[in-house]
Amino acid sequence: MTTRPDLAVVILAAGKGTRFKSDLAKVLHRAAGRSMLHHVLEAVRPLGAGQVVVVVGHQAEEVEAEARTADLPGITFALQKEQLGTGHATRVAVDSLGDAAQHVLVLPGDTPLLGSATLTSLVESALDGAALLTATVDDPTGYGRIVRDGDDVARVVEQDDATDEELTITEVNGGVYAFRRSLLAESLAGLGTDNVQSEMYLTDVIEVVATRGVRVTAHAAAPDEVAGVNDRRQLADAAAVLRGRVLDRLMSEGVTVLDPDTTYVDVDVKVGADTVLYPNCILEDATEIGERATVGPNCHLVAAEVGDEAHVTNAVVKHAVVGPEATVGPFTYLRPGTVLDRGAKAGGFVEIKKSRLAEGAKVPHLSYIGDATIGRDANIGAGTITCNFDGFDKHETTVGDGAFVGSDTMLVAPIEIGAGAVTGAGSVITSDVPADALALERSEQQTVTGWAAKRREARSQGDA
Ligand code: UD1
Ligand code: CA
Repeated sequence: MTTRPDLAVVILAAGKGTRFKSDLAKVLHRAAGRSMLHHVLEAVRPLGAGQVVVVVGHQAEEVEAEARTADLPGITFALQKEQLGTGHATRVAVDSLGDAAQHVLVLPGDTPLLGSATLTSLVESALDGAALLTATVDDPTGYGRIVRDGDDVARVVEQDDATDEELTITEVNGGVYAFRRSLLAESLAGLGTDNVQSEMYLTDVIEVVATRGVRVTAHAAAPDEVAGVNDRRQLADAAAVLRGRVLDRLMSEGVTVLDPDTTYVDVDVKVGADTVLYPNCILEDATEIGERATVGPNCHLVAAEVGDEAHVTNAVVKHAVVGPEATVGPFTYLRPGTVLDRGAKAGGFVEIKKSRLAEGAKVPHLSYIGDATIGRDANIGAGTITCNFDGFDKHETTVGDGAFVGSDTMLVAPIEIGAGAVTGAGSVITSDVPADALALERSEQQTVTGWAAKRREARSQGDA
């Protein structure tokens, strides 16, 4: 990665985001698996800027903590105590810049669709003056409008301050700017608050610069890229764009997506070639899926690992590992700490928590398995339950290699079933079973010949 010690990036992230009607600061709201702020930081990363200043204010601690998770070199924070406007926020940031910074890129924290290439070329087009990102859109509502004097950018007028004529302008301000540092610092010094919102607008810097005779370059971008997210409708729209980009990438890498409209994949998810994603799947966090696997329909995977040629259908898998060639579903819930080794099976209506199924082990039907270790090729009969909780503490169950646990066995933990042992169907097993033994816990069956026929007869006579 190139590094540019002379470049500083300023990210404005101090606002509350009133239009979100949320307790959470706007830039912390998430789309496609990342906060908006994190998306912006990832767009900035390839620029290799010597310093990246995040201006924080509303929920400053939380916003700072979130920014730190991106682990971006050169990140620093500037506190804007009162949110007096984007111009004021930028001034706070510029005051905190180190000596090396000669060029400054300023961008909002609420533009999650910005791409690195666009930012790089904006910085280049500023040369030694100023440049701003613009887009021509169908509906300019809410954006600052670009007012031109001939071909030159003269100023930016905010929606609330615009005349009826200015409101018809469809060339809008993306809120992203590149400046020579000294030009920015001098222009910020003179900003006032004479506008409808009584705020210090960063947009006013453009007029100051232009008035000084410095050319402001308008750098046109695709409308998608400059989209600012001010409310939840816009968040949903941005998330849809991000999702589409992720799916395009996966498909180009050899993943079959049967129904892109109902497939929701977070940006950090990895999927191997020749894997098929069936409709209605949500793949979140750092989920990783191998090659030639099938996932779906109807799966919700969160930080799951799914191996090559595994098959997962109609399942919820959270913080769990599905080994290669393993099968999961339908209607299966794999909870945190579950590991299915190669070829293992968690079948229909099975819930597994914090347990390991060794290679080839099978839990095919209607079971709850918790805090257990199930040996190689062991078979757990339908309806088996590990009674792992005594009301106070959790206890472990161990089933040895090749053991056969009969249907509807209650394994009262802590308990150990030895390798190759068998338990009879319907048993409540409370003591350890040695290897290769049979354990049976069942009352004797009574059979009364003819009882049922006699009962039917008695009933039919009574009815007559
Ligand atoms: C801003 C621009 C508008 C542009 C649009 C693009 C101004 C005055 N207007 O409007 O021309 O079309 O972005 O998306 O700049 N912030 C602070 N401190 C503050 C105020 C805001 O850090 O005191 C931060 C916010 O957290 C946000 C960003 O600055 O991340 C932009 O603020 P916002 O209120 O969303 O500006 P817009 O009304 O969208
Ligand atoms: Ca905005």
